[in-house]
Amino acid sequence: MASIPLRLTDHAYDVHIGPGVRHRLAEVVGRLGAARAVVVSARPPEWVPDTGVETLLLPARDGERAKSLGTVERLCGEFVRFGLTRSDVVVSCGGGTTTDVVGLAAALYHRGIAVVHLPTSLLAQVDASVGGKTAVNLSAGKNLVGAYWQPSAVLCDTDYLSTLPPRELLNGYGEIARCHFIGAPDLRALPVADQIAASVALKARVVEADERDAGPRHILNYGHTLGHALEKATGFELRHGEAVAVGTVFAGRLAGALGRIDEARVAEHRDVVRSYGLPAALPAETDPADLVRLMRHDKKAVSGLTFVLDGPGGVELVDDVPAETVTGVLDGMPRAPLADLVGAAEPLTPEPLAPAPETARS
Ligand code: GLY
Repeated sequence: MASIPLRLTDHAYDVHIGPGVRHRLAEVVGRLGAARAVVVSARPPEWVPDTGVETLLLPARDGERAKSLGTVERLCGEFVRFGLTRSDVVVSCGGGTTTDVVGLAAALYHRGIAVVHLPTSLLAQVDASVGGKTAVNLSAGKNLVGAYWQPSAVLCDTDYLSTLPPRELLNGYGEIARCHFIGAPDLRALPVADQIAASVALKARVVEADERDAGPRHILNYGHTLGHALEKATGFELRHGEAVAVGTVFAGRLAGALGRIDEARVAEHRDVVRSYGLPAALPAETDPADLVRLMRHDKKAVSGLTFVLDGPGGVELVDDVPAETVTGVLDGMPRAPLADLVGAAEPLTPEPLAPAPETARS
């Protein structure tokens, strides 16, 4: 088991990673001194470990549609009915959309109550549950309303990963692959728990340097400018991690076209992405002009087209990249039908979760 500390000026917590770490929940809740817990879970009740205190279990759903202000209001209403106080705790159990919406409910309830995340997807374990970004969607766009609200602990139980369909596992590898270019060592040959630990350790150091996304934290969005555009352009048929993988290959090619990195480094982008079984080509159904238009609206775009790019001084935010260069690189990308791209992964056989030794809740 690995424990990665995340130390901020006014808050510190650990991210525990390994098989069975969900069973540390009661110890974490006990340390917080909470008398009650609300567990919001998008997974079956038997996946939720004992909290050690009086507990309300609220079923939830993963998915962008559940990431709404309506869900936050409904959750907070349940917290009130249960009598949750500011010294109690909220626990999320599910994928990244669940940790996002439950994190925001915790940030707002009584102006902030402790939250512990039990991320169950690889994507949520390596990224969404760590670092304190919480948000919900509006009809105008994704993650438009949110808050920075750091958890009191994150328990990344790798037992949960054996329950994931292959494509969901692949989705998480998109975020692990991009770590290769923003300061992580080569993680490809490591066991998944070590890949998660290294990705979380990298993210923890970045968040410690820039909790509120004022500068250095932008590097975590490597591959995301095109990635977000691809998610939108494909109606979210390309999953986030898959889109980030294609965006990572594109970021390498764009940095090459701008003379920031050499050919070998450009090729490394494609090789790393492919070796995780991730897509490295543009969906043939997408139109480069449409992608450029979508990228102009990226949240990180302060002026013109903005990308996080590799270069001689390392990875940095690069503003005002000429549109013709971007279009030229998009035109030069390999293309494949969407159905072929997302079928590219080797199938893995999901197994049922090992039974929890303690399921009773008081
Ligand atoms: N997922 C990017 C960040 O947490 O900043």
